[in-house]
Amino acid sequence: MSEEQKKPENRARPTTDELRKFIAEDWAPRHPGATGLSEAARYAAARRDAVSAAFPGERLVIPAGGLKVRSNDTDYVFRPHSAFAHLTGLGGDREPDAVLILEPRDDGTHEAVLYFRPLAGRDTDEFFADARYGEFWVGARPTIEDLETELGLTARHIDEFADAAVKDAGEVTVRLVRDADRDLTRQLDDQRSSETTDQDDLTEADEELAHFLSTLRLTKDEWEVEEMRRAVEATRHGFEAVIAALPEAVGKGRGERWVEGVFGLVARHEGNGVGYDSICAAGDHATTLHWIKNTGDLREGDLILLDAGVERESLFTADITRTLPANGTFTDAQREVYDAVYAAQEAGLAAVRPGNRFSDVHAAAIRVIAEHLHAWGLLPEGVDVEATLDKDHGQYHRRWMVHGTSHHLGIDVHDCALATREEYLDAELRPGMVLTVEPGLYFKADDLKAPERFRGIGVRIEDDVLVTEDGYENLSAAMPRTSAEVEGWIREVQDRRG
Ligand code: GLY
Ligand code: MN
Ligand code: MN
Repeated sequence: MSEEQKKPENRARPTTDELRKFIAEDWAPRHPGATGLSEAARYAAARRDAVSAAFPGERLVIPAGGLKVRSNDTDYVFRPHSAFAHLTGLGGDREPDAVLILEPRDDGTHEAVLYFRPLAGRDTDEFFADARYGEFWVGARPTIEDLETELGLTARHIDEFADAAVKDAGEVTVRLVRDADRDLTRQLDDQRSSETTDQDDLTEADEELAHFLSTLRLTKDEWEVEEMRRAVEATRHGFEAVIAALPEAVGKGRGERWVEGVFGLVARHEGNGVGYDSICAAGDHATTLHWIKNTGDLREGDLILLDAGVERESLFTADITRTLPANGTFTDAQREVYDAVYAAQEAGLAAVRPGNRFSDVHAAAIRVIAEHLHAWGLLPEGVDVEATLDKDHGQYHRRWMVHGTSHHLGIDVHDCALATREEYLDAELRPGMVLTVEPGLYFKADDLKAPERFRGIGVRIEDDVLVTEDGYENLSAAMPRTSAEVEGWIREVQDRRG
């Protein structure tokens, strides 16, 4: 349920019955808002079947979540909960306050029922007077028939949800995705608790469901892989728009914001938006891993680390980093750091194949990082590569690369977040997994252990890869990675765009 907005009573105007009548009349018939099953919904049905098989006889409640107040009477742009999007095929900004219930049938399967706020009639106050939901204010929503056609499931009015959620209370186990909608969770906890069920048991049962839904995304189906390809392709367009705008970004001041805006424009135009706040980090800012303030200048001679991804309407997002010389050419010191990171990424990529563990990718990449740090004489006296890589003793290299090399990627940029260590880091890679490979090196401007020539240089290279039957496919291979290729790419894009 939505957080409450402040009503601007001081700006409200009285509405007479005569005006209501006048507004309600003389509208052309509505056209159906949906003409067939959406592509996303076709695949969502198979995912719901997998959930159904894991929880026979139980009622499963998966809310989209509600609108969240940004300030006063304005809301953040809505984004449905990832599990809801995955199981319905609804992405973009749809459908605030909706709840999916998988209702158990006697034969062990489930009926999928979507409770939502359908289009209000033109004879209602909501139609013209509700700034949060009304058609005059935020546009028309689907009807019940529209949503059933689009999603291939049963749809009902949200007003019927409360009774449906507690039907046969005490006889049927009800599990809920807790983090989608706080108010609804509180309400269902009250309704589910009894003398025999305590809150810890409820929470534990709910967490089992959340865990299952998160790990269901560890491998992607063919449609999801296609969505990832499209997200990556749109992201390449965004990077190329930024490359074309680099001279302007240098000239204008606050170049980081210019870069953020240019990438954001492409993301909004080609997709739903950015999959996470873009990291547009020039010069020393690149040594801050999640630099999203983007307040800095981009100076001639700087590197700019751009870590950004376009999210599709389906909510699948790319997550790609390129570190680009603002003037098109790396300095010797920048190139030295860049090439070390590139070598580490190559080693990480080579470790992506079924049978290898997820953590083998990081192990391969970080070894190359450690080798370079050792060769540069940056590890403590007497500490060699093996010693720093030793889990229990060394790890000195982490001063310059403190993050991991890979994470799962999909509807969430850090996808499958509830998988256990055994299912994630320690698990074997399987075909259909999509992950990032993103080593980096970060030498802060005030790092007195770093060679002077490296101070203020941060480099990360990040690609999105699909695990295949015998290795991997780099989904972002069309975006150049070596230092020489990056320079050629900048020349080519800037020439092409004049
Ligand atoms: N963009 C955040 C990350 O690379 O994980
Ligand atoms: Mn990233
Ligand atoms: Mn990443």
